[in-house]
Amino acid sequence: MKLAGNWNYPTSVRFGAGRIAELGAAVKAAGIARPLLVTDPRLATLPPVERALEVLAGDNIAAAVFSDVKPNPIASNVDAGLKALRAGRHDGVIAMGGGSALDAGKVIAFMAGQTRPMWDFEDVGDWWTRADPKGILPIVAVPTTAGTGSEVGRAGVVTDETTHTKKVIFHPKMMPAITICDPELTVGMPPAITAGTGMDAMAHCLEAYCGPFYHPLADGIAVEGMRLVEDNLARAFKQGGDLEARAHMMSAAAMGATAFQKALGAIHALSHPIGALYDTHHGLTNAVFMPYVLAFNRPAIEAKVARLAAYLGLEPKFDAFLAWVLALLEEIGIPHTLAGLKVDDRQFDLMSRMAVKDPTAGGNPIPLDAAICRRLYENALVGKV
Ligand SMILES: NC(=O)c1ccc[n+]([C@@H]2O[C@H](COP(=O)([O-])OP(=O)(O)OC[C@H]3O[C@@H](n4cnc5c(N)ncnc54)[C@H](O)[C@@H]3O)[C@@H](O)[C@H]2O)c1
Ligand SMILES: [Fe+2]
Repeated sequence: MKLAGNWNYPTSVRFGAGRIAELGAAVKAAGIARPLLVTDPRLATLPPVERALEVLAGDNIAAAVFSDVKPNPIASNVDAGLKALRAGRHDGVIAMGGGSALDAGKVIAFMAGQTRPMWDFEDVGDWWTRADPKGILPIVAVPTTAGTGSEVGRAGVVTDETTHTKKVIFHPKMMPAITICDPELTVGMPPAITAGTGMDAMAHCLEAYCGPFYHPLADGIAVEGMRLVEDNLARAFKQGGDLEARAHMMSAAAMGATAFQKALGAIHALSHPIGALYDTHHGLTNAVFMPYVLAFNRPAIEAKVARLAAYLGLEPKFDAFLAWVLALLEEIGIPHTLAGLKVDDRQFDLMSRMAVKDPTAGGNPIPLDAAICRRLYENALVGKV
């Protein structure tokens, strides 16, 4: 089967190896004449971005590059990008990279015509209605990792450096108009980033599936997303050039983000404070917490996870799924404890308070409080699943 297609769910997705060649056409179809290509400094020197610029030049599209985006982007990255956008009179954004560059590019396009400060649009209640939708520029998204799924999402995560918190900026129109999913762009991803980002996709599917809300559409997407991770993440980790595995992981990432509009949970709630305080990789941090959170949530999700285990071809039991997760983490080099993230217990009280307040905490199948979060941090410190 050819791993390619044109999908219109959840947005217009052009999926398939080599389809970066369609970037110019996509930019034009999105109504953009002068795109600002937002990426990160490392990617700006690597073949995926070189190729994108070559394609645009071939189509006579004048694009400029903005790459002052750090992993876990901060507000000043967005401010600098807005300056570049206005100075170059750009009329749209190509957001290209991992979640960091995708989110930064999406938020820059969103903020282009707003008059209120960015934090006024945090994903709290209906704050998104404060935005002027006419002030949002069109976005074409091009992922180069397979994890966050931000390429098919309506939000961007930006770290507020003054409070050391990760905040979500949300607006329905932040959804990219067109997304190009070209798995060839991910073949150069180093194994550690392949592992961390792939486990982010896994965490999105798992937390969505386990969330305590009624959303059968999300559940269906999440279980197939996890099957793709099961069959392909270790393959992509071991053989970076395995295009089939890369393609399936790219789908799993988009599926995770499509499913998590249902819920995320304690994996993300515990991970975000560590990302904000220690600047660790988001997916890697999620991966470390996965077994501890699964074990803690067990009373609420046992039957559901047994059903999932059956779909994954495992013995239809919660324990079989947990054992599979532990084996996968080991196979792809994810540390078993917080020591692997260079995190100790010094800020556990602060982290626990932050975790409870994290917007994802409310989607955990068992309600969280600070004492529970502290216990989970302690378990992850000593390796007690
Ligand atoms: N918007 C959302 O819905 C959403 C969901 C989950 C996570 N996030 C956010 O996304 C960010 C993490 O994104 P990420 O995990 O994709 O990592 P990332 O974007 O921070 O990238 C990690 C590193 O990988 C490099 N890289 C990316 N693609 C590469 C390639 N093809 N070849 C070689 N190197 C490559 C980058 O240059 C960077 O150094 C975090 O800020 C997280 O909070 C957003
Ligand atoms: Fe995530």
